[in-house]
Amino acid sequence: MHCIKKITGDLIWVGANDRRLAIFEGVYSVPGGVSYNSYLLLDEKTVLFDTVDKAVSRRFLENVAFALDGRKLDYLIMQHMEPDHSAAFEELLIRYPDVKVVCNAKTQIMIKQFFDLDVDALIVKENDTLNTGKHTLHFVMAPMVHWPEVMVTYDSTDKILFSADGFGTFGALNGALFADEVDFNADYMNEARRYYTNIVGKYGVQVQTLLGKASTLDIKMICPLHGFVWRNNLTDIISKYILWSTYQPEENGVMIAYASVYGNTENAAEIFASLLREKGIKTVMYDVSVTPASEIIAAAFKWSHLAFASTTYNAGIFVSMEELINDLVAHNIQNRTVAIIENGSWAATSGGLIRDKLEKCKNIKILEQTLSIKSSLKTVQIPEIESIVDTIAADFIQLPSDTGTNHTGIPASIDPAAMFKLSYGLFVLTAKDGDKDNGCIINTAIQITAAPLRLSIAVNKANFTNDMILKTGEFNVSILATNTPFDVFTQFGFQSGRDTDKFACVDYNERTSNGIRYIPGSSNCVISAKVTDSYDYGTHTLFIADITESIVLSNEPSVTYQYYFDNIKPKPQKPADSSAEKKKGYVCKICGYVYDGDPLPQDFICPLCKHGTIDFEPL
Ligand code: FEO
Repeated sequence: MHCIKKITGDLIWVGANDRRLAIFEGVYSVPGGVSYNSYLLLDEKTVLFDTVDKAVSRRFLENVAFALDGRKLDYLIMQHMEPDHSAAFEELLIRYPDVKVVCNAKTQIMIKQFFDLDVDALIVKENDTLNTGKHTLHFVMAPMVHWPEVMVTYDSTDKILFSADGFGTFGALNGALFADEVDFNADYMNEARRYYTNIVGKYGVQVQTLLGKASTLDIKMICPLHGFVWRNNLTDIISKYILWSTYQPEENGVMIAYASVYGNTENAAEIFASLLREKGIKTVMYDVSVTPASEIIAAAFKWSHLAFASTTYNAGIFVSMEELINDLVAHNIQNRTVAIIENGSWAATSGGLIRDKLEKCKNIKILEQTLSIKSSLKTVQIPEIESIVDTIAADFIQLPSDTGTNHTGIPASIDPAAMFKLSYGLFVLTAKDGDKDNGCIINTAIQITAAPLRLSIAVNKANFTNDMILKTGEFNVSILATNTPFDVFTQFGFQSGRDTDKFACVDYNERTSNGIRYIPGSSNCVISAKVTDSYDYGTHTLFIADITESIVLSNEPSVTYQYYFDNIKPKPQKPADSSAEKKKGYVCKICGYVYDGDPLPQDFICPLCKHGTIDFEPL
């Protein structure tokens, strides 16, 4: 029985999922399965983009036959010859003997290699086009993303990029087809990273070349050969590809991979991680004998600093650690700082051998100190491990005395207080996803154009409202007025909508035409908007949106940031006793939350109002 999905009026997904495959390409575990995507365009001519793996060829052939509905198949565009996309080719030719194969010269050679067939193909090269009626298809060569014959196809009529392996993801589709139908960042981004880094991570330069070509195209949708179709928020995945292909880390922190036979090397790695955490540095840890190498490769691409702790084994690196290091070198890891811990009961060699291998990589800074353990870490070595931690910490928290930066890592020439001179307003940003209503406080709503009426908002990604807007593409901005009580700020600013119904205690239920709630009593206006673009700026998402409705609710003046501080926010109470006065810590200027300790970690986010270190001041 067929199982197809409509993408546009004349484009249909005819691929299939495989959840029985344990190891993809004989190397990569795929616990969530994998999808093999194929697309059928029903124009005046019918066009099939690639076939599928042999494991799902029966379902694929049923899908194609059903979607064609008796029409003949005119073209088969073969973008990639790897058998997970070409295995059903021979069977397809038997069923549709008149189909014209469209491919490049390298693909034609590979067809002969894989199938022993001489195919009279339509050979295309860079910038060649194929008109199929309403659609014009443009061919773009993408060698080594992931094999040398790979090409992608751009449909300039519907502005769709058929991207071959590019922008693919491990994981079966589970009923969805579009990335915006799932919580991609939470549930699939790790698999997208693992797919990219392991499959094409080595070929960053070639991926950048393809990204450069793609940047000249007006792309509204991306159809990859694995994983979800992208029709919204394309920048979510493109921005990741820019980082991954240039080998730039996504997050500051230390990925620690260790190989330990009897737990002593693991113990040193644990102590190392604990000391880093005490400095406020994020850490992740992997036992290389347990975690598949593909997951650790992906993590190495994500984090800024890497640490390897390995026992010595057969006078070399422990076997699973050696495989990991070889794999990292093969995947071209670059631009990282590396710390090494070695263990050896009589002749420790693993540290030096790891160093030798990683030194071949581009722009890898390996710390000079190697912590060398004889059987187990000893108390006398704690200063040594602390010294390595301090060296790493210096990259994260730079002090004014030696680097010209303040405690937040911002250069001393920049006074964060300057940001408070900007005349921000304060707003409740609300969204609706199904039955869930939610909202948060923002200070970043700005009209950017008058024709069309267009708004921008920047939303902290820690806010649940951010996720809801990314998913639904709609929101309301209630402009708070000077009669707003502090309770409204605590209600929407100091708790999370993930675990709280922020509207549970209110006695109003007003909604605009888009069905989203607003704050009638405290705001002087509500503006409804529909997202046209979103941009990932690390901690925040910048949304650009067209205004769809606006209602003036009162003539009360709007609240400014300054007015909030001067007239609404309760004044801090003096400490009750003298010992509290001496307490070291930082207070959030927005909500008054107190962080006990010094220094304030560079990436600290206020647990109440989600503001960053720039909004904290010493007690
Ligand atoms: Fe999904 Fe390179 O094949």
